[in-house]
Amino acid sequence: MPNILLIGNGAREHALAEAITRSEQKPQLFSFMKTNNPGIASLSEKIKLGSYADLDAITEFAAENKIEFAVIGPEDPLNNGVADALSKINIPSAGPTKSLARLETSKSFTRNLVKKYNIPGNPQFRVFTTINGVEAFLNELEGIVLKPDGLTGGKGVQVQGDHFETKKDALKLCEQILAGGSSLIVEEKFDGEEFSLQCLCDGKTVVATPLVQDHKRRFDGDKGPNTGGMGSYSLPDHSMPFLKPKDLEDGLEITRQVAAALLKETGSPYKGVMYGGFIATKNGAKLLEYNARFGDPEAMNILPLLKTDFVEVCRHIIAGKLDKLKIEFEHKATVCKYVVPKGYGLPADHPDAASSKTKIEVGDVGKARLYYSSVDQKEDGLYLSSSRAIGIVGIADDLAQARKIAEEGVNAVKGPVAYREDIGTEALIQKRIDHMKKIRKD
Ligand SMILES: Nc1ncnc2c1ncn2[C@@H]1O[C@H](COP(=O)(O)OP(=O)(O)O)[C@@H](O)[C@H]1O
Ligand SMILES: [Mg+2]
Repeated sequence: MPNILLIGNGAREHALAEAITRSEQKPQLFSFMKTNNPGIASLSEKIKLGSYADLDAITEFAAENKIEFAVIGPEDPLNNGVADALSKINIPSAGPTKSLARLETSKSFTRNLVKKYNIPGNPQFRVFTTINGVEAFLNELEGIVLKPDGLTGGKGVQVQGDHFETKKDALKLCEQILAGGSSLIVEEKFDGEEFSLQCLCDGKTVVATPLVQDHKRRFDGDKGPNTGGMGSYSLPDHSMPFLKPKDLEDGLEITRQVAAALLKETGSPYKGVMYGGFIATKNGAKLLEYNARFGDPEAMNILPLLKTDFVEVCRHIIAGKLDKLKIEFEHKATVCKYVVPKGYGLPADHPDAASSKTKIEVGDVGKARLYYSSVDQKEDGLYLSSSRAIGIVGIADDLAQARKIAEEGVNAVKGPVAYREDIGTEALIQKRIDHMKKIRKD
């Protein structure tokens, strides 16, 4: 019976906890969490609450409990060097070291790596540490995207047409980003449709998992502010109906080449998830960014479909033997909808902002799966925080049924909550197909 350490406290980690504990190896789960997730706690042998920056607390908890390996869910502990600290006491991780996690934590590192090793997929881009030369480069671009260099919780990137309009506005935002102390990436804006390709990597072999599409905007029709993600869907064929097979091949090939480049550049193998955020354009798939972990919500789409024992998957990642394991996913559709406080993503002075920190009731979610995110389990019941509360997932043979199951689950959550109705609808998918037809001119 292996003892496994899970780090993280969100719905993604609840899905990881479920994938770990359904292993035939009968593992015992030890979970280190920032706040107490009731779903993870119920699957754990033991939990410990603490900060993801407290490396001593994490290593102590791991050593005490004779951990075989760790699974690191979120980006913060990766960025804090949790994998490095555990490795010093001979506990390996499915999750990259701090240096390799730069794939996510430094967008300039990744853009420069892709360029240095002549890997396709980059936009035109430049990295700036001062305002010198920014204006001239802005003038070279048709559409502009501005990115601070570092973790921003999905809320730092500014896109022309969405967050600002003119080059003058762009220059002002560049000054603000630089004044905030981080360097700045200015890049070409792509037109197309986004998809998430989450790959498993042992340093040499890269294995794709089913494609997922996330929905960042707070409201139906992709309107309103960007969020951590309001929900996502995947399809039985593990692809997306608006993509050509070549788009998926491009994404996978870029990821393979990036894994090889990381090994050359750092001398160490990348072990963990390489989550590529791609955009299909008229010229094939282009790279938006990498994350160094599963997506949240996207983990909830793919982990429940995994037929291969997840503990074995982690062991093969750690041993550098992914090529020896057949990794299979069920051919089913999934729809994940996040239940959020009504005020989530809205300005603090909005009347709905008061909906956080109130009590909710979770009734019978029927056939849906429920993954807790930011909820506070008190003696008298379950309370909202200000973040996303519960991920509800429907799984079925087709998208319409999966969506219906998710919808029924979502409706079982009572309180001042909201969710996106349009995720997984035919109409939304058709919009994406039509958009790609228009830009490909086919
Ligand atoms: N070069 C680009 N062209 C068009 N849109 C982009 C580009 N880069 C980023 N975006 C948009 O901004 C969003 C956030 O950017 P991303 O690089 O994924 O950073 P993060 O997830 O850290 O906020 C993307 O999901 C996409 O919608
Ligand atoms: Mg992103």
